[in-house]
Amino acid sequence: MKKTAVTFKEAKAKGEKLSMLTAYDYTTAKLIDETGIDAILVGDSLGMVMLGYEDTLSVTMEDMIHHSAAVARGIRNALLITDMPFMSYQTSVYDAVVNAGRLMKEGRAQAVKLEGGLEVCDHIRAIVKASIPVCGHIGLTPQSVNALGGFKVQGKGKEAAQRILDEARALEEAGAFAIVLECVPQALAAKITESVHVPTIGIGAGSGCDGQVLVYQDMLAMYSDMAPKFAKQFAQVGSLMKEAFAAYKKEVAQGIFPAQEHTFKMDETIIDKLY
Ligand code: KIV
Repeated sequence: MKKTAVTFKEAKAKGEKLSMLTAYDYTTAKLIDETGIDAILVGDSLGMVMLGYEDTLSVTMEDMIHHSAAVARGIRNALLITDMPFMSYQTSVYDAVVNAGRLMKEGRAQAVKLEGGLEVCDHIRAIVKASIPVCGHIGLTPQSVNALGGFKVQGKGKEAAQRILDEARALEEAGAFAIVLECVPQALAAKITESVHVPTIGIGAGSGCDGQVLVYQDMLAMYSDMAPKFAKQFAQVGSLMKEAFAAYKKEVAQGIFPAQEHTFKMDETIIDKLY
């Protein structure tokens, strides 16, 4: 059954846990979708894991649209959420609505995600008014890495924890259909989860959330530039890929690949007639 922002909200009421993974291309999206995962996020993490930037700040609307449209072609059932990149919504409510609209029209997203708390509530209200579902994102917000002083756990102290809880309530009130909680202590994430009616999707926020999200390169051990504590490695795909690439290189060098079964036949008497 096709997942939507509405079924997402219903899942919380039914007590069903939601699973979400990132994807950035057609082939990976298709593989993930076939497993029955609830949502696929075209995260602006693509700047780091696909494009090799050291953070997400250089990601453009064109990058997001290009990858979102590719992912959309690979999905049949999962809900497709696409990130609004840095400076595509912070600048004004107008920019936020126009750029959210582009992600839906050109990127074929079914919902958008943007980072921030009280400062983005007006933007969320306007986007939701345009019939575009919005997922919030609080706690560690990577687009604010310079203001936060690095990729660090957020909300450990009383004031910071209260601020994040207040932000979650404000995002719900502004119309967000779900809220990503990134890198916050487990106890705070659990408190937020019981305090709002929309699902919380955790990443480094413990098991008390309504769902979980991971970057697929992290959970497949394919990306070695950064290894977050919360990213369980479900398979060693990175080393498997390297082994396969090395085996290919060796077989090419030794003339083992391609073998007869990988070649095409013809009437070879024709060869003798060539000059
Ligand atoms: O960009 C991304 O992949 C994200 C997830 C980490 C939630 O925002």
